[in-house]
Amino acid sequence: MKAIIFKEYGGSEKLEYVDIPNPQPGSGEVLIKVRVASVNPVDWKIREGRLKFMTGKKFPLFAGSELSGVISELGPGVSKFKIGDRVFAGLTRKGGAYAEYVVAKIEKTISIPDEMSFDVASTLAIAGVTPLQAFTHHFKVKKGHDILINGGSGGVGTYAIQIAKVLGAKVTAVCSDRNKELVLSLGADEVIDYNKEDFRERHNVFDLILDAASNAAYTDSKKSLKKGGMLIKLNISIKTIVLGFWTKYFSSRKVKMILLKNSREDLQWMIDHIVSGEIKVIIDKTFSLEKAGEAQAYSQTGRARGKIVITVSDN
Ligand SMILES: NC(=O)c1ccc[n+]([C@@H]2O[C@H](COP(=O)([O-])OP(=O)(O)OC[C@H]3O[C@@H](n4cnc5c(N)ncnc54)[C@H](OP(=O)(O)O)[C@@H]3O)[C@@H](O)[C@H]2O)c1
Repeated sequence: MKAIIFKEYGGSEKLEYVDIPNPQPGSGEVLIKVRVASVNPVDWKIREGRLKFMTGKKFPLFAGSELSGVISELGPGVSKFKIGDRVFAGLTRKGGAYAEYVVAKIEKTISIPDEMSFDVASTLAIAGVTPLQAFTHHFKVKKGHDILINGGSGGVGTYAIQIAKVLGAKVTAVCSDRNKELVLSLGADEVIDYNKEDFRERHNVFDLILDAASNAAYTDSKKSLKKGGMLIKLNISIKTIVLGFWTKYFSSRKVKMILLKNSREDLQWMIDHIVSGEIKVIIDKTFSLEKAGEAQAYSQTGRARGKIVITVSDN
């Protein structure tokens, strides 16, 4: 099969489009013929070696962390799915979504409803579920809460705005002027153009700040939080973990670093709200598997509007 691998950490030129044997599903696993892989910043962070402590030094590594497709083989003892089922899956750090076939664990494999496209399904497991967990597991968003989404027009942000609105919050989205209409169309009540205004100048106004743009430091963003408010960070940082511990006990304005957790319940919530039309999925650009390096380079510009996907196969 064709797949995207890399044999050392580095830039997008390290990605190689190669022929390798199809993987074989083990017990509790399925083999999926991939239709669409979605591109997430974590994919190029892994490629650059920023998460070496998790991905190690053993190469080759396989690129891509989530996909949609059709089950083509069942591992020993698997009866929950059948060959031909339409599914999507988030993978472990072993990756491999940028490939014609991928093995996924059944607990991470979810059926796609008939009315949902492979493109849409490929984007749910990471960018969709992360803000949902931020708003329901880590900070219980309630009707009327004031939420700021820093990076409102990206993969996470476009989902975050809509999820926050479903939960009844008032949403302020931060992005550049070119994305103003997009975030308003997704339900944002107000937009801050970061080139014209720094949200940190607004004091005591937000119950929650979700920092999808990864540039809101606790020290200068905490003033924007109301008492009892929280800043949620999405990038792994020892400093945030330490601050998170400290603010939990000693400050009325908290900070928390969160990591996505596998949850069928949360995935089902996303599916239900997409099928009902309450949440739209914004797809910015589509690339072919061969152009996976270009897809990651585009993601790395930090300018994506919604999600970037890779079409691996049309059937
Ligand atoms: N912890 C976890 O489990 C987890 C899960 C998912 C994602 N993440 C992390 O969350 C982050 C966001 O992911 P993503 O997929 O949303 O990224 P993304 O799609 O690349 O985000 C791009 C968006 O960020 C906006 N942006 C860029 N600079 C900005 C600034 N200074 N202020 C406000 N907005 C700005 C851009 O808008 P303009 O073009 O208008 O500037 C663009 O629309 C990544 O670091 C990712 O690794 C973590």
